[in-house]
Amino acid sequence: MAIQLGDTAPDFTAETTDGQIKFHQWLGTSWGVLFSHPKDFTPVCTTELGEVARLKPEFEKRNVKVIGLSVDPIESHKAWVGDIKETQGHALNFPLIADSDRKISNLYGMIHPNANDTLTVRSVFVIGPDKKVKLTITYPASTGRNFHEILRVIDSLQLTAKHSVATPVNWKFGEDVIIVPSVTDEQAKEKFPGGWKALKPYLRIVAQPRQ
Ligand code: BEZ
Repeated sequence: MAIQLGDTAPDFTAETTDGQIKFHQWLGTSWGVLFSHPKDFTPVCTTELGEVARLKPEFEKRNVKVIGLSVDPIESHKAWVGDIKETQGHALNFPLIADSDRKISNLYGMIHPNANDTLTVRSVFVIGPDKKVKLTITYPASTGRNFHEILRVIDSLQLTAKHSVATPVNWKFGEDVIIVPSVTDEQAKEKFPGGWKALKPYLRIVAQPRQ
């Protein structure tokens, strides 16, 4: 069965460009982003990996470790990384898993046989410090991902993990949020002493709490 939100992210041992990694141990108390790409030496993947390398400080600011994966062997990953630096201006600065035996791809359902029976699709798993899966998204091989969107979701996940709020459509860090329906007005008065705007009894807008 496909991995669903709230499931424990399966643990594994992997060969990576940074050596052998035991996934849960490597994550430690951090958040994690595990993402697959279809193939080394392909154009869209080259741009994606360069972008993740460029954004690494943004992930680190949020206490997130990033790790990539494809079914290419380690020698291929190592040969390809020079192209990422040369063409994208950013050297690979996070581990890339070589999943030649497809063990991890199968564990996480990253191969969608009706799209391509051998290559991984563009899967993303965001994993919390409790090792639970908080977000899954899947893109086709032909569409490069928007990693700013992944950072945006992480901002929302980290905020909503701490406060009794949810984030509205197109929300970005710093913008107003929504008081979750399970919080009564009485409870909200304590949690949000600055008050809120109720457009409907179930739609209560409040300034974003401090992290
Ligand atoms: C790419 O990264 O450009 C790509 C990889 C596999 C299929 C299509 C595009």
